[in-house]
Amino acid sequence: MKNRILLVLFLLSTTFSLRGGEGMWLPQLLKALNEGEMQTMGMKLTAEQIYSVNQGSLKDAIVHFGGFCTSEVISDQGLLLTNHHCGYGQIQSHTSLEKNYIKNGFWAKNLQEELANPGLFARFIVRIDDVTEAMLAGVSDKMGTKERQSQIDKNMAALKVNTKLGAFEELMIRPFYHGNQYFSFTTVTYNDVRLVGAPPEMIGKFGADTDNWEWPRHTGDFALFRIYAGPNNEPAEYNENNKPYNPKHFLPISLDGVEEGDFTLIFGFPGRTNQYLPGVAVKQLVETVNPARIAIRDAALKILDAEMRKDEKTKIQYASKFARIANYWKKWIGENQGLIATNALDKKANLEKEFEAVLNSSLTMKSKYGDILPKFESLYNELEPYVLSRNYYNEIMGRNIEAMRIVGYMRRLISAHEKNGKTGYDKFKERLSGPIESFYKNYNPKIDQQVFSTLTKMYGNADGAKEIAASMQNYLMGNGIRDYEQLAQKVFANSMILDKNKVLQTINQSPEDAIKKIKGDPLFKFASEINSTYQDKIAGRYTEINSEINDLQRRYMEGLIEAFPDKRFWPDANSTMRVTYGKVQGYQPRDGITYNPLTTLDGVIAKYKPGDYEFDVPKKLLQLNALRDYGDYATADGKMPVCFLGSNHTTGGNSGSPAIDANGNLVGLNFDRVWEGTMSDINYDPSICRNIMVDARYILFIIDKYAGAGHLVKEMKLVHPRTDMSGNKSSKKKLNKPVPAKQPGINPKSKRQKAISKDGMPTKEQKVVPYNGGGR
Ligand code: ARG
Ligand code: GLU
Repeated sequence: MKNRILLVLFLLSTTFSLRGGEGMWLPQLLKALNEGEMQTMGMKLTAEQIYSVNQGSLKDAIVHFGGFCTSEVISDQGLLLTNHHCGYGQIQSHTSLEKNYIKNGFWAKNLQEELANPGLFARFIVRIDDVTEAMLAGVSDKMGTKERQSQIDKNMAALKVNTKLGAFEELMIRPFYHGNQYFSFTTVTYNDVRLVGAPPEMIGKFGADTDNWEWPRHTGDFALFRIYAGPNNEPAEYNENNKPYNPKHFLPISLDGVEEGDFTLIFGFPGRTNQYLPGVAVKQLVETVNPARIAIRDAALKILDAEMRKDEKTKIQYASKFARIANYWKKWIGENQGLIATNALDKKANLEKEFEAVLNSSLTMKSKYGDILPKFESLYNELEPYVLSRNYYNEIMGRNIEAMRIVGYMRRLISAHEKNGKTGYDKFKERLSGPIESFYKNYNPKIDQQVFSTLTKMYGNADGAKEIAASMQNYLMGNGIRDYEQLAQKVFANSMILDKNKVLQTINQSPEDAIKKIKGDPLFKFASEINSTYQDKIAGRYTEINSEINDLQRRYMEGLIEAFPDKRFWPDANSTMRVTYGKVQGYQPRDGITYNPLTTLDGVIAKYKPGDYEFDVPKKLLQLNALRDYGDYATADGKMPVCFLGSNHTTGGNSGSPAIDANGNLVGLNFDRVWEGTMSDINYDPSICRNIMVDARYILFIIDKYAGAGHLVKEMKLVHPRTDMSGNKSSKKKLNKPVPAKQPGINPKSKRQKAISKDGMPTKEQKVVPYNGGGR
């Protein structure tokens, strides 16, 4: 029923103003909702060429990279293009002082030199289906939140059992429009993904955190991987004998570049947006939540930064962690400023006024949705101390004090023993060996102690989160500790958790002895006490209020769609495959300043600071530039393009997404947004929301001319769409049409892929994926 209502509304609402930009659309609905608009904006493709179940289409080249980024296939040999910051954890894991791939880059000369990455996967989407009816069967408006959820869970289980899948396929079901609609995604996942090439950090991360989220940008944020498959092109665990994967489709790369106003399409896996929040929620975010978490990260980052500047080893150890923490710290600052600058609260208030006016004009609407806005108001007010406490807890205990990660492992080890005795203990212990190894490789307890004392102090003084602040103060008093520095000294002087060998020794004893030792550890004891206050006083209530809010959000979404039949609503991002489209376009960040959407290598040189930790430039690049030795990759007026801006609506997870031109060729690689527009997750505003892409020609130039890895470029398909159409410069190859590659049969007998276990710990098959530089 509901499903049908939504669909009818969708169809009615295809007459909209031509704004472009806003929206993260489902690829299988483009035909109904977006094709006309996209073609008016300049697209030459049909919706069917973008998404088709029956023949190779663009979507077959789009890959969910490790579940946290996007990547795309760019050769018939399974070559994958993604961001340097998406592959950063993998590059780092192969890096040592002797083989410093972060610093010097890495280029495999042949298949044998490509490097395996346990735990990294590449996931394709085979098809997407509307399963709303099955998922909402037996669900009624009279049900309470829990009852409703349990019916939905049952429906989902039944649907998973009853859906016929092909070999290696898995079914993933996700709610859309906050639970008003459900889609299933049939996926196929490859687990042998190898590192092929990465530029040195001076190119791949040029500008680092100073330039992160900024325009004008000059980062060559790309890396190359390759999918390997079994003998019949099927998914397979890592094996020396695996062969490069032969895709259903791969993206040709355009050498003609972009100009302001050109149509662009971004295809990928955006993580999360919250476009339909009520005003009261946005106010809480701007005034309470963001300032608290910004302040916590600010303090942690200052400590890391000071230490990283002191020596190279610390820099290698902490670079990825620093980048991850800094990333959302800076994003939240921009988000707050943007929400204020674009009057997001006024916009929300106006929308809510309009909504109320509709309700006031119809008794049925009023009785269906009249309670929502007042309820939001009271629920968010009730939530405030809990959401604040939760952010303090997560940021401080769960995130920035690193040793807490090991504490968490120990806690789960103990609970594995409680549940399954020695067998459970041994099993879990085995799974811990990888994560423990990689944790200590990059751990410095001296740094962590400073973070610990600084952040526990903030916790103890947490404004507006009284319960958790009190728990910290009580801990000090109860243990006769003077201040947070003394607390840190005491805990760090005596804990075994700071030392890998001590931890291994401990857990290798009999479970009973080990558990006794763990429970007596000062850091563990401290964490347990803080954790239990959090669990008792915060977590439960937070979850309750939050689930009421979610339920209300579902009804609000339904109400908005019903109240404004002429508006076109897109479903908030949820890490599923989406298409967004816009144009190459600059913006005005501030009064009197206009940003041009294209940058060149001249800008790299202008930012160049010899020896600097963020703005140094490799010698070879300087040389190539001095000689203007740009190969076939320069613009018509002899410049080397580097980055460009577009009005495509993207978010975290869209990193590594291809920017595709009007003809279906890759012209760029998405990696960031502009700082002024990071509030697009909550309030997209076409005036200042822009995504940032690396120009494909810069990528090719770096691979070919800088790295001398021309063999990789030979593998790709380079095209000249503009000149081809005008008939001037001839190109050897046909463009436009998706390029289906041969698809040898898949062996139906091999086993399905194993999923990551529920608690997020790696299963035996799936080892831990290291940090990536993007992260929240
Ligand atoms: N801001 C981009 C994203 O959200 C890039 C992050 C990686 N770069 C960095 N300097 N931390 O992922
Ligand atoms: N850098 C982000 C990522 O890793 C994409 C930029 C954004 O948030 O839009 O996904």
